[in-house]
Amino acid sequence: MKVNFTETVLRDANQSLIATRLPFSDFEGILETLDNAGYYSLECWGGATFDSCLRYLNEDPWERLRKIKAKVKKTPLQMLIRGQNILGYKHYPDDVVRMFIRKSAENGMDIFRIFDALNDFRNIQVAVDETLKCGKHAQGCICYTTSPVHTLDKYALMGKELEDMGVKSICVKDMAGIMGPTEAYDLIKALKSSVTIPVFLHTHATTGLGPMTYMKAVEAGCDGIDTAISNFSGGTAQPATETMKYALEQLGYTNTLDSAKLKEINDFFAPVKKEFLDSGALDPYVLGTNTDALVYQVPGGMLSNLVAQLKAQNAFDKLDAVLSEVPNVRKDLGYPPLVTPISQMVGVQATANVLAGERYKNISKEVKAYLRGEYGMAPGEVDSDLVKKVVGDDSVITCRFADTLEPAFEKAKAEIGARARSDEDVLSYIAFPTYAEKYFDYRDEKESNTVHYTIVKKED
Ligand code: CO
Repeated sequence: MKVNFTETVLRDANQSLIATRLPFSDFEGILETLDNAGYYSLECWGGATFDSCLRYLNEDPWERLRKIKAKVKKTPLQMLIRGQNILGYKHYPDDVVRMFIRKSAENGMDIFRIFDALNDFRNIQVAVDETLKCGKHAQGCICYTTSPVHTLDKYALMGKELEDMGVKSICVKDMAGIMGPTEAYDLIKALKSSVTIPVFLHTHATTGLGPMTYMKAVEAGCDGIDTAISNFSGGTAQPATETMKYALEQLGYTNTLDSAKLKEINDFFAPVKKEFLDSGALDPYVLGTNTDALVYQVPGGMLSNLVAQLKAQNAFDKLDAVLSEVPNVRKDLGYPPLVTPISQMVGVQATANVLAGERYKNISKEVKAYLRGEYGMAPGEVDSDLVKKVVGDDSVITCRFADTLEPAFEKAKAEIGARARSDEDVLSYIAFPTYAEKYFDYRDEKESNTVHYTIVKKED
């Protein structure tokens, strides 16, 4: 059996290890080799990469995509998109979602990995539909979590629902890196028996379970895994590409990866890694194995947020109390997967419940919006008293939230005016208004400097 490899060095590994600070110039020189290494796909775009380009790197994310595409001609480019949230955490109207997909496809994107944090597939439907209309590969995601309502049967049904929606493949996304080998085996088996399309698995190496989890997933028939070239692997990133290739070959599975090319790619990234280690942007701590998530049953990122929050409020001694309140809050909210932004919402609420000495005395704006149904449908039953307390006589939204939104693309286009030079610019502005404007300023400035320089030269 063949196992497909998706390389994450440009997106998830970049995001997980160095807060997505990799500039295009740091990997431009290896793109052709990446293209020729035999990967199934190259994950290179998503919310954080887009945001970071505008915010920190003074790069146009669309231009980055076109420049990658110019060198990566054979291997499909892959992006991560939050369904109706596109790249962020709020819901956008359908016209914006469709325009975003269309422009991404036009600029070179091939595989759209589409997810909704609550697995409310109404929130990915439009993105899936537009991807298919563009003739591209829509990959439907299932966000992995554990709870009394997340049974294998439920997951199998989710897979079926995605297949019926027309997606070309399914990805089980263990964003928190909490899936263990047996869970992976059982889940992939359940999905493989309910759908006929390929099933992929995405996890992180954070807890150290990653390679074992992948191995058992492959044994259960998993068609592909996400890995990172070894210099950017491990810790909060993915298990290493070379290691997984080696181990899976030993177990009799085949792949299309070229070892010599992988070595070349890894050697290329060695000095890049060193540069980030030296600058402090890559903290060796994130490269280690952290098993706290296994003890506390909360994702690593959420745990570090909780610790920071409590320390800031001089209440670090309440950590145990907050950690035992987390599952209660999660139950009240109908067992949402603990992924951003819900993990933070649950963490903040659990903290507030403990510190106030009274549950739900203070409720954050985000949790209120969640209880009104603005994020979508919770996987399980939401505590009705809590809903009543927040929503009162107003009604809970039961339709798809985006159905309540007015079209927004043309309005944004008029708003930003001539500062946007293309529809792509308008989309950058819609997704990250402040940072897009900052980038547009930078671009104008840079160009006026260039023009000035040229004139001066002519006069010489
Ligand atoms: Co991830």
